[in-house]
Amino acid sequence: MSSHSLRVEPIGKHHRPILVDFKNQHEALANYPRRIAKRHLRHDLVGGTFLAILTDEQKHERVAGYFSMTTASLEREWSDGSGEFESFSTQPRFPIPCVLLTRFAVDVRLQGQGFGTYLMEEVFEHLIGALESNWLTSRVLLADAHDESAAAFFEHFGFSRLTNEYPVTMGLDLQRVLSL
Ligand SMILES: CC(C)(COP(=O)(O)OP(=O)(O)OC[C@H]1O[C@@H](n2cnc3c(N)ncnc32)[C@H](O)[C@@H]1OP(=O)(O)O)[C@@H](O)C(=O)NCCC(=O)NCCS
Repeated sequence: MSSHSLRVEPIGKHHRPILVDFKNQHEALANYPRRIAKRHLRHDLVGGTFLAILTDEQKHERVAGYFSMTTASLEREWSDGSGEFESFSTQPRFPIPCVLLTRFAVDVRLQGQGFGTYLMEEVFEHLIGALESNWLTSRVLLADAHDESAAAFFEHFGFSRLTNEYPVTMGLDLQRVLSL
């Protein structure tokens, strides 16, 4: 990743001009922050989107990537209490509260330079802040992987496969993130 300044902020109307240039190999992921994300955040209240904005020496800004999140739950029965989520066998028998990473993308021209890692670290930092301040209780970070490449990316950050068919549901026990 270059040494240009990088910041993450919630999506807003003022980002419209720089979102025009955002490109991803999945058209739906390129279009989402331009066309749908603001409505989901401000009107429908079904998900928040955060943009990573890169500024170069000439103060030119571009969107390096983004992620979107919402809350979700997992039916307690999905886990047999073994393996990765062994400790769930001692949890109350109501749905397990989760955060769902609904979208996660880096501009195709900037991939392979650490921006995905930066975004994932931001996700962890936001979640740790919310959990430690008691504003949120959530046990699992979920993500949907629509292809093998996405699944492998999430596995790189410690997610496990909870289902076998695409889109594969990926899960990360937030107890592990809190103890990092
Ligand atoms: C997945 C994506 C966000 C990764 O962004 P990126 O900026 O290229 O990621 P990084 O450069 O930070 O790579 C992070 C690490 O993950 C690894 N990685 C990246 N893509 C990977 C993949 N497809 N499979 C396995 N590992 C992968 C890298 O090797 C790197 O590991 P390292 O730190 O040991 O070198 C980007 O490729 C993308 O936008 N893909 C299309 C959209 C998508 O699939 N999103 C996820 C599901 S919504």
